[in-house]
Amino acid sequence: MANIVIIGTQWGDEGKGKIVDILAEDANCVVRFQGGNNAGHTIVINGKKIILHHIPSGILHEKIKCIIGNGVVIDPEILINKELKNLEKENFKVSQNNLKISKNAHVIMPYHKLIEEGRENCGKILKVGTTKRGIGPAYEDKISRRGIKVKDLIDEKSFSEKLDEILLEKNCLIKFYGFDTLNKNEILEKYLKYGEILKDFIDDTHKILINEEEKGSNIIFEGAQGTLLDIDHGTYPFVTSSNTVSGNVCAGAGFGIKKIDKIIGIVKAYTTRVGMGPFPTELKCKTGDYLRDKGGEYGSTTGRPRRCGWLDLVALKYSANLNNLTEIALTKLDVLDGLDTVKVCVGYKYKGEVFKYFDNDINFLNNIEPVYKEFKGWKNNYSNINNFEKLQKETKDYIKFIEEELNTPITLISTGPDRKSTIFKN
Ligand code: IMP
Repeated sequence: MANIVIIGTQWGDEGKGKIVDILAEDANCVVRFQGGNNAGHTIVINGKKIILHHIPSGILHEKIKCIIGNGVVIDPEILINKELKNLEKENFKVSQNNLKISKNAHVIMPYHKLIEEGRENCGKILKVGTTKRGIGPAYEDKISRRGIKVKDLIDEKSFSEKLDEILLEKNCLIKFYGFDTLNKNEILEKYLKYGEILKDFIDDTHKILINEEEKGSNIIFEGAQGTLLDIDHGTYPFVTSSNTVSGNVCAGAGFGIKKIDKIIGIVKAYTTRVGMGPFPTELKCKTGDYLRDKGGEYGSTTGRPRRCGWLDLVALKYSANLNNLTEIALTKLDVLDGLDTVKVCVGYKYKGEVFKYFDNDINFLNNIEPVYKEFKGWKNNYSNINNFEKLQKETKDYIKFIEEELNTPITLISTGPDRKSTIFKN
């Protein structure tokens, strides 16, 4: 294998978790480099569903070292009480041997969640429809250098001093949004306990990665969310608060750019989006409902119904270029089974002119009309198919068209949530 980056190419929920889990068979390390518990990576093994929020999907393979990198924001309450407990319940072994957390990752604090809740409740034009996990406010504090790092949780003096100063400001905001102010000692006590539980996992993960690289390990970098939610390149302000593009592996994990061998873009065979913001190919009709129901398109973190629509090749070309994709994994192909027609957006019509290039300006995207190429649908049931030759000609035409338009080979196709429901094309 090699060092591989796995990236969501749309608005998230492309099925990255399953692909990482499959590729992890040959990996030594799996690393998360951005986002936090706004992500919900679902993996199904022998019919058992596991949802991970911070922990890399490689944790289900016992011998793999999983790393939560410095670019991730961590909610220790969820990490400890939900993820670690759930993994233990399902008999997956997690110890300091297979899970490392960067000492430099930032912590999502209780005030982050309250401030975000207040903003989302009051917001009109600036309401984003976030996951309300405190992700944005935690990254704000990181950038403004007022953040609490994971290493602060095991340094009582420094943590206590920082909290004194930070809470002066945060409690004003919390009051402004109509919530009860927070008590410093309660936070300190609770979060020091989290630090005590996590201390054996906390490490210098950059150093660990250098060692792994020197040993010739195969490393997978697991992206969260999707390219169109990138803070710079996505549909701002309806985006998440981190860079979701492949380039952020270097900053978010502390890994050299020249050491990356492959960048695999995960493309769902149609498009979904949760939260507000432009969505050019959205289907507000029965076909959209069909995709939602058949694809189980409800958020694994918040349970919200996802907006559904056709595949958008204009947006995907943008994504392929931004991420420098070397390969594509096409997911949820089986969800399109049974439709009479399958459409793909190949252009945006704006003021009478057809554009082939994605511009992330929301006024542009809200006012375009998608130009579609239509494909004849297929009647076969592809659920759990793992042989490319079993696909009908119509389906192969659809796949070939995507490859040609994006100038990138599709090497893997997913036809169901289970590991076994996978076609290895090349
Ligand atoms: P935040 O990341 O919670 O701040 O939310 C910002 C936007 O990103 C909202 O539209 C969310 O619905 C969306 N978002 C965040 N994480 C995910 C994800 O893992 N999948 C899909 N959408 C997400």
